[in-house]
Amino acid sequence: MTEKRQFRAIKGTRDILPPDSALWNWFERTAREVFETYGFGEIRLPIFEETELFARSIGADTDVVGKEMYTFEDRGNANVGYPQTIEGVITADAAVRQAWHAGRIPHTYENEATVIQLHEACEGVGQEGGPALLRFVHYLHAIRLGEQLTLRPEATAGVARAYIEHGMHTLPGNVKLYYAGPMFRRERPQKGRYRQFYQVGAEVLGQSDAPAIDAEVLEMLLVLFRRVGLTNIKLYVNSIGCKECRPNYVRQLRGVLLNVKDRLGPDSQRRIETNPLRVLDSKLPEEQAIIETLPRISDHLCADCLAHFAKLKDELKLRGIEYEENWRLVRGLDYYTRTTFEVTAAGLGSQNAVCGGGRYDGLVELLGGQPTKGIGFAIGTDRAMLSIQEGSAPKLSGLGVFVAWMGAKAYPAAVAIARKLRECGVAVELPPEEMKFKKSLGLADKLGARYALIIGEDEVASGTYTLKRLSDGDQRKLSENDLLEYLESERRS
Ligand code: HAM
Repeated sequence: MTEKRQFRAIKGTRDILPPDSALWNWFERTAREVFETYGFGEIRLPIFEETELFARSIGADTDVVGKEMYTFEDRGNANVGYPQTIEGVITADAAVRQAWHAGRIPHTYENEATVIQLHEACEGVGQEGGPALLRFVHYLHAIRLGEQLTLRPEATAGVARAYIEHGMHTLPGNVKLYYAGPMFRRERPQKGRYRQFYQVGAEVLGQSDAPAIDAEVLEMLLVLFRRVGLTNIKLYVNSIGCKECRPNYVRQLRGVLLNVKDRLGPDSQRRIETNPLRVLDSKLPEEQAIIETLPRISDHLCADCLAHFAKLKDELKLRGIEYEENWRLVRGLDYYTRTTFEVTAAGLGSQNAVCGGGRYDGLVELLGGQPTKGIGFAIGTDRAMLSIQEGSAPKLSGLGVFVAWMGAKAYPAAVAIARKLRECGVAVELPPEEMKFKKSLGLADKLGARYALIIGEDEVASGTYTLKRLSDGDQRKLSENDLLEYLESERRS
């Protein structure tokens, strides 16, 4: 007997069902509308990329790369039978076994030299073992060639990769791109934190790092948040300097942190070496007093970074954007330079950052492209939805008309009118089987339909239909044309 087993969504992932999905779609649609008014176009990126792309962009010592990525080896042609281990090849084939025992095959395959040695060994083992060993060598090549893949933990690295790959630096003006879709991080799931989560983000890449770009990106973000009714919005900004001034600050910070090392928790102690800036966004209560005494980057910015930050603040004032400076806002990804920001919103508990972003001048260059400036943000859609749903989510119009048909003669007319209404954009439910009148209206009500359209044999004979508004029982008899006109005008109002 087969085992009865219920499958469940993987921990940290979830299904977004109707009617919630309609609200999600509305949010993403509104983001597209707003972003397009600022001249952004959509980029659709692959869900997975080379692991190396993320490691290099986000930084090997970050939590995202160090602990949270879903990485796998793309076997590619290995599916057609590449052996998985040297031992597998050895035991499967006598000639290879002999070569192995004679010491002609290296026992490890960590570097270029062992691959070359393996190639030579293939020639040495002749007809039988050669092909098996050669397949293995190709397998090693595949790994070495970067077929270590990762489900994207974020999209900025992918955008920078695409910018280079498609030579977008030759496009006129700044390149403004937005994206929406799932991201993957193996974090500890809790409210507002998932392993598959969704982002809507935007990036501006080009030759200019004018603070007006930063300010306009922030304005766009806040226009969207206002449009979708997010409440208690707070914008925090900071400047984390550039490659000229930050190393000096980090050195000083590390020095001071070493003096207080014993009073810090294990995570912060480790970060003194790997990434001292991250100590600043520790949330451990016992570390807060110590952090307050640490040197601040604002006292160590070079003249250019100071001027950039001052101009950004002027630009924000010009646009009437309220913000708070937060010197501890360093962000968890290594590619940031100068401007960093985060937005918090109501109803989110400890995971209250609904959006994060900043400047990443130099990322494109780091990935092998031309020197390029960049800035962008990503909104956590899951968190935006949580916040909107805890407040006053808009009532989206669902089902418009439930066609309550009765009698075999009424059915063809019901099918025809349902099709015509749908062509006019009205959402229609047409019961596939005849129902008793009362049951039919009951179901219409439960499905949340605005109207029931009653079609019986009398209606077919007279060519008029009865339209009943379910909220107040208002009823009117309409010809087909009048019905289409009436519903069309209702839909637009
Ligand atoms: P991030 O701060 O890592 O930045 O993520 C941006 C937003 O995604 C967060 O503020 C949060 O709302 C949401 N988020 C992150 N992780 C999770 C999770 N596990 N569950 C639910 N929501 C989550 C970035 O990803 C950068 N790429 C942003 C950026 C774009 N910077 C420049 N351009």
